[in-house]
This record gives sequence, structure tokens and C-alpha cells, in this order.
Amino acid sequence: MKKKNIIVVGLQWGDEGKGKIVDLLAKDVDIIARYQGGNNAGHTVVAGDLSLVFRLIPSGILNEEKICLLGNGVVIDPVVLFEELDNLKKINIKIKDRFFVSNKCHIIMPYHKRLDIARERLRGAGMIGTTGRGIGPTYEDKVARLGIRAIDLLDRQLFYDKIVLSLKEKNYLFKNVLGENVFDPDELIEDYINYGKKLKEYLVDTSRFIAERLDSGSNLMLEGAQGTFLDVDHGTYPYVTSSNTLAGGAFAGAGLGPTRIDEVIGITKAYTTRVGEGYFPTELKGGTGSIIRDKGEEFGSVTGRPRRCGWFDANLIREAKYLNGVTGMIITKLDVLSGLPEISICTGYMFRGSKIHQLPASFSECCEVKPLYEEMPGWEGDISGIRSFKDLPVNSQKYILRLEELTGIPVNIVSLGKERNQTLILNDVFCKSPAVL
Ligand code: GDP
Ligand code: IMO
Ligand code: MG
Repeated sequence: MKKKNIIVVGLQWGDEGKGKIVDLLAKDVDIIARYQGGNNAGHTVVAGDLSLVFRLIPSGILNEEKICLLGNGVVIDPVVLFEELDNLKKINIKIKDRFFVSNKCHIIMPYHKRLDIARERLRGAGMIGTTGRGIGPTYEDKVARLGIRAIDLLDRQLFYDKIVLSLKEKNYLFKNVLGENVFDPDELIEDYINYGKKLKEYLVDTSRFIAERLDSGSNLMLEGAQGTFLDVDHGTYPYVTSSNTLAGGAFAGAGLGPTRIDEVIGITKAYTTRVGEGYFPTELKGGTGSIIRDKGEEFGSVTGRPRRCGWFDANLIREAKYLNGVTGMIITKLDVLSGLPEISICTGYMFRGSKIHQLPASFSECCEVKPLYEEMPGWEGDISGIRSFKDLPVNSQKYILRLEELTGIPVNIVSLGKERNQTLILNDVFCKSPAVL
């Protein structure tokens, strides 16, 4: 039987539990690749006593035999990459010959980080709430054709000329608009040439690498970062990140064609969270929102910021289904909802006297929508030790089945805790076992 190639994508505003699930699914693939974003991501993997948060390195890296790649669509802060690699080496995770970086990846430079933070300050109350990691300015430079690619770090003169060009406008901005110190190319060059020397052994043409491996029978999992509604085109613009987070972004971001992919697996929490600014129709301010935040430990894995919490929004997930071409869904953090007397699911919105099922395109109109809920009875007790769907409290089973019905997406996996074994497989993603729902 042909081995499946899959894309794993977040269906909400990020932090859906992609790290846990990618680590879990990695045992059934040969290659795991990131295709967009950078170290704005924080993907948590818990394996026994280990709890690691991956910013750049694919979450499959703990699965010893697997190849992990950073595709060309990823933006790389070398400071963070080498920190992450060093931490893995300290715990004896083998990196050599199993971790590669696209030579076309764009590099996050110190001026990108300063620009990100200064711009947020300039926006004041209208800030995006970025992670401050320089992600947006690096993608801007890429599109403006001013970016530094990984391969450029290997050529001193070319690299130097590129920084000089990039800083012409930026230093003007820093000095005259943003009130920041300017950058001197001569002070940047040595550190980054040294990063280039260290990076060299990992650099390959990852798209060709993937093509050759797939042709010889290997299979691939593409690991999305952020989530559907942080997508720069289809998300809640302007409160989005600066890349295409959708499954479609994987093709350009890893350099392969859509015909290679068999399944798109969407991950959603059993409720909703969001970090940073932007509208969030089902947000619960205080009360139940705080209960969910405390129980679900909903604090950003990159910035430590409290995540905003709210009810599951079936409208968003239905939209995420067609935006990504989702074929199967994984629901995480069901355990967090235990003990709530009633659980609400958003099934539509009231907007200017009519019921609608999709957020309006205009930002100001979005602020007017009021969520419409259907209530379901909750369940009691700790469910994190349960290992079979039929042993779950009946009301939690009904909740999962209702989410499946409202979204029209079959559920593959339900997650009940951080650990690998706190996972119920209902329909194996790789079709190795029969459905049990
Ligand atoms: P990602 O960015 O999508 O990889 O998600 P994060 O790692 O930023 O955030 C998800 C958090 O939830 C992490 O702390 C995970 O360890 C944790 N987590 C994942 N699945 C479950 C689950 O089913 N139940 C609970 N209680 N925690 C989970
Ligand atoms: P993972 O992969 C949640 C949010 C930021 C901000 C917006 C833009 O762990 O799910 P950026 O720094 O990207 O320009 O910030 O996007 N954001 C995330 N929110 N999870 C993430 O990643 C995020 N990456 C960016 O909070 O609102
Ligand atoms: Mg995260």
C-alpha cells in the first residue's frame, strides 16, 4: 500500500496542540518538514520526563529515525536555531544527517526584530500583538526582494552588499521615524558570516530532496505553524501573521505540488484560544474563560502571554475545512472542559438582525457580530486517564460527535492530555486500524 503524505494544519488561531500531534504521527512518516513561519511558533512536545518547546525544528525530531527539514518558506533566526540544536544535542538527540535547512530560507536579522518591536510601539492601541521576533519585517524584505537567504551567508561580499542595500531605507526609518538607533553593516557581518559557517552543513535544496525521497517511496508530513485564521490572506486581517499558514501555503513553502498530498489533517482545541489582538467572537472574558485558561494552562509558549479563551466556534472550523481542504480532524484538550456544568458551541452569528455563518470580510463589521450558541450538558471527573472512546463520559462522547456533525469533518483523534499516551485514536490517519466511532 502507498504510504500517505499529509499536511497537519491548525484550524484556529494557533496553539491547537500541533506539536503533540506531529510528534505522535511522526512514527508513521519518513520526513517531517515545516513550510512557513519562524520562531513565532512554539510547539510543545511532551515525551516521558521531557517537555520541549520547538520554535523552528520540526516537532518530529524526537523520533530518532526520521528526517526533519525546514522548507524554503520558513524564516530563520540563526540565534534561535543554534540554541535549539544545542539543547537537542545536550539531551543526545542525533542531528547530523537527519536535519536539513533549505538554502532558500530567509534569515531574520537583528534589524527585522527591532523594526517589528518599534512598529508595534508606533501603532499604539492599534497594535497587532506580534511575538516581536521580526517575522513580519523578514517576510516584507523577502517580497520586496531585499531579503537575505541562507545561501547568502556563505558569500561575504554578496551578503555585505545585501545588508548595505537593506539598511539604506531601514536606517532612515529607524533614525527619522521610529526614534531608534541605526545599524552599522560592519558590526553585523562577522556574527552572521559565522552563523553561515555553522549553517553550511545543514543547507540543501529541500524541495529536490523531498521530490527524490518521495519518488523512492518515502512519505512526508508537512507541519503547519500558527493557524488558519492567522493566515495573511484568509485570516482575521490585519490581526494575522505574515505568512500563508493554510495547507495551500505548504506547496510553495516546501516546494512541492498539490498532487503529492493525500490527506490534510486539521487540529482544533475542544474550545478556542487566541494570543495577541484581533476579534474573537466567542471569547469569554473572566468567569469561565479564566477557568479554562487556568485548567488548560493557556499561556503563550513563546511569549508567556495569557491566551484569550472562549467556546468552540463551529463556523470558523467549517470555513477552515474548505480553506484547507481538510480531510480529517484532531480534537485536543477535551480534558480541560471536564467539570463545566454546561458547554456552549457557537453555531452562527447575529449580524444586523440576520443570522449568518461566516464572519464578514470587513474588520469593522466583524466587531458587530454576536455569537449564537447551542448548549450541551457538561461532564464530571478527570478523563485524562481514559484510553477508549466508549469509556468517556456519555456527555463528552456526545460533545465530540456534535462537533463532528456541525463541522462536517470526521474525527481521527481525540487528545486528553499532554502525554503521547493520553490520546484516543478513532480513525487512524494512516488507515492502519478500522474506525471505532
Ligand atoms: P502548538 O503551537 O499547536 O504546538 O500548541 P502549543 O504547544 O503552543 O500549545 C498547546 C499546549 O497544550 C501545550 O502545552 C501542550 O503540551 C498542551 N496539550 C496538547 N494537547 C493537550 C491535551 O489534549 N490536553 C491538555 N491538557 N494539554 C494538551
Ligand atoms: P504556533 O505555531 C499563536 C500571533 C501573535 C500575533 C500574530 C502576529 O505556536 O501555533 P507575528 O509575530 O507572527 O507577526 O504575530 O500572530 N501568533 C501566534 N499565535 N500561536 C502561534 O504559533 C503564533 N504565531 C504568531 O500572537 O497575534
Ligand atoms: Mg504554540
